[in-house]
Amino acid sequence: MTQARKKIILDLDTGIDDTLALAYALGSPELDVIGVTGTFGNVVVEQGVRNDLALLDLFGRADVPVFEGLPHASTKDSFATLDISRFIHGDNGVGNVELSESERKAETVSAVDFLVESVRKYGDDLVIVPTGPLTNIAAAVEKDPEFASRAHIVFMGGALTVPGNVTRWSEANINQDPEAADLVLRTCADVTMVGLDVTLQTLLTTAETAVWRETGTEAGRILADMTDYYIRSYDVTAPHLGGCGLHDPLAVGVAVDPSLVTTLARNMKVDTEEPTRGRTIGDDERLNDPNKNACVAVAVDVDRFLGELMDRIGSTIAAAKQHGEGS
Ligand code: BDR
Ligand code: CA
Repeated sequence: MTQARKKIILDLDTGIDDTLALAYALGSPELDVIGVTGTFGNVVVEQGVRNDLALLDLFGRADVPVFEGLPHASTKDSFATLDISRFIHGDNGVGNVELSESERKAETVSAVDFLVESVRKYGDDLVIVPTGPLTNIAAAVEKDPEFASRAHIVFMGGALTVPGNVTRWSEANINQDPEAADLVLRTCADVTMVGLDVTLQTLLTTAETAVWRETGTEAGRILADMTDYYIRSYDVTAPHLGGCGLHDPLAVGVAVDPSLVTTLARNMKVDTEEPTRGRTIGDDERLNDPNKNACVAVAVDVDRFLGELMDRIGSTIAAAKQHGEGS
């Protein structure tokens, strides 16, 4: 008997590694990608949504709907892309690689409403994978009193056993909206945190992107070109690593197969006050609560994940080629 595919919503701030997360999910036979919700972060939300629509066209998956999310953190009244994000992801979020603009538009339903409705409809058959600030997810928690107890969330963000990558304390996705992340970590019943503890152990080099380019396909070339841009930024900001961090695709990998990581069961919170604003840390007030709502990934099977990544992104590239040839 074949197993039903797990439904997944990706909440992306697309973003080069967000693109790799999308390609990983689309190439995973266990997953049914029912929608992409856009958030701000690596780019402004409108640009992220444009990228999602263009990438779905490129991968031959224009059937996947895209929903626009909130434009900024609820504690702020605007958002502007940080210089460091432009350096890492390019001005357009995809390494300044040109994508053909999609003729499709985002759905008229908002990202938050789509998240709320999907959790109500699919319950345990759905996993949500946010790979940007947790603003849309926190808004869904606030909108629907049942969302927190029913949603299953595997997010990329945070750092428990290693320093942050924006400040000594704070990882980029958490740093954009610490209050949202705090609400999600304190209230949601089933949260897995895939943070820098593990994502900086999974690295990609130009040896792997060459494999994509050598497919001779448009999707392979575009993925290779944008990821090379990302790798070059790591060569400057973190040369000791010897590659780029596979942050966002690892979160999708864990949503497909939790055995890729070892986790600690913890009750977590986010510091919202200086000097440690943005730090993901155990919640001292819930230390002795026997019910732990979060699993924090602290070790990862690097070789197995890299194998899965190359297989699954390879499948997406191959399917894109077939789709392009057929149309
Ligand atoms: C996270 O920040 C963003 O730049 C990446 O897309 C990833 O989600 C890593 O800290
Ligand atoms: Ca991201």
